[in-house]
Amino acid sequence: MKKFLASSCFKLLQKHKFILFLVPSLLTLIILGYLSQYTVDYLHVAKLSDHSFLMLPNSSCQTRPPFLVLLVTSAQDQLVARSAIRQTWGRVRTAHGQRVVTYFLLGYSREHQEQLQKESSLHKDIIQKNFTDTYYNLTLKVLMGLEWVNRFCPSVSFVMKTDSDMFVNVDYLTKLLLRMNHTNIFTGFVMRNLGPIRDKSSKWYVSEQEYPQNGYPPFCSGTGYVMSADVANRVLNISRIVPHFKLEDVYIGLCLAELKIDPVEIHSERKFFNGKVTFSVCEFRKLITVHQVNPSELLIYWKSLADTADEHCPGDV
Ligand SMILES: *[C@@H]1O[C@H](CO)[C@@H](O)[C@H](O)[C@H]1NC(C)=O
Ligand SMILES: *[C@@H]1O[C@H](CO)[C@@H](O)[C@H](O)[C@H]1NC(C)=O
Ligand SMILES: *[C@@H]1O[C@H](CO)[C@@H](O)[C@H](O)[C@H]1NC(C)=O
Ligand SMILES: *[C@@H]1O[C@H](CO)[C@@H](O)[C@H](O)[C@H]1NC(C)=O
Ligand SMILES: *[C@@H]1O[C@H](CO)[C@@H](O)[C@H](O)[C@H]1NC(C)=O
Repeated sequence: MKKFLASSCFKLLQKHKFILFLVPSLLTLIILGYLSQYTVDYLHVAKLSDHSFLMLPNSSCQTRPPFLVLLVTSAQDQLVARSAIRQTWGRVRTAHGQRVVTYFLLGYSREHQEQLQKESSLHKDIIQKNFTDTYYNLTLKVLMGLEWVNRFCPSVSFVMKTDSDMFVNVDYLTKLLLRMNHTNIFTGFVMRNLGPIRDKSSKWYVSEQEYPQNGYPPFCSGTGYVMSADVANRVLNISRIVPHFKLEDVYIGLCLAELKIDPVEIHSERKFFNGKVTFSVCEFRKLITVHQVNPSELLIYWKSLADTADEHCPGDV
């Protein structure tokens, strides 16, 4: 009987040789299926960590979306500048009845992380991801800010990007933004007809390899530009297909060109200054940004403006 079974099995196998292949194939499929659980899981984790922020501000964007969020690019060692901003324009919470918030954008540096962690838990105003904090990673830093808006503050009306050596007149900016359309807006110190600097000693040197064309599309100086939230989202979205470029403000211009959005002026007079402006109360009340303001100057200017808030300037209505 046993002999009969064995021999008929043998005959069956001889007749249907494919079983010899089928069994290992099935086993392989089962093992692969089992493993793929882990593969999928692994990919999921990798994707998540790619998007994960190391530090997030305590925003109340979900419950009370602000009108304007100011995102300030800052380097690890600029604690004094951040502190001055927190005591001046970064402290403004309402302007013309609108909610305003200021957050700082930082990358990663092992040397400063512990200090930054303390600063973040104290002020809860830092947005950080895990990329090396260097000047030429500024584009990544700004895109991180736009990603934060997209994920955590989608109902904001306007987003400003500025730097830590700036004076920003948040009140006046809000006033002018309220007069504008709330969509399809990109404004700031508009730069037109500029092109790459091919002088190797320049901070803004760009090689032919990095950017072969001779002209840049219109863009706004990185010292301070403002966009409506829809533009912020569209720039973030298109950045996936616009090749990386190290000059952050030009990069945003390249994204805008792709989106066919032209930067506009916020006013018939110049309001954004990408250089120094001599301080005077009446002058500073009617402008939006001034560059190259050091922390002690910022504190002095702010105090002067606060102390004279009741005084009239020529031309006031
Ligand atoms: C975040 O802010 C809210 C008020 O805006 C406050 O009630 C809450 O305690 C804060 N959370 C943390 C972790 O600081
Ligand atoms: C940041 O990313 C690097 C790899 O790119 C990793 O080794 C490191 O652990 C990460 N740091 C943190 C704080 O997540
Ligand atoms: C930008 O950050 C990435 C990720 O941390 C790093 O690999 C790269 O070297 C940085 N680039 C520059 C120019 O610092
Ligand atoms: C607002 O948008 C409308 C329609 O797009 C346009 O006609 C109008 O000129 C815009 N106003 C301003 C102040 O830009
Ligand atoms: C994002 O970009 C893709 C093309 O890159 C486009 O098809 C899609 O409509 C865009 N989405 C938004 C919300 O802009």
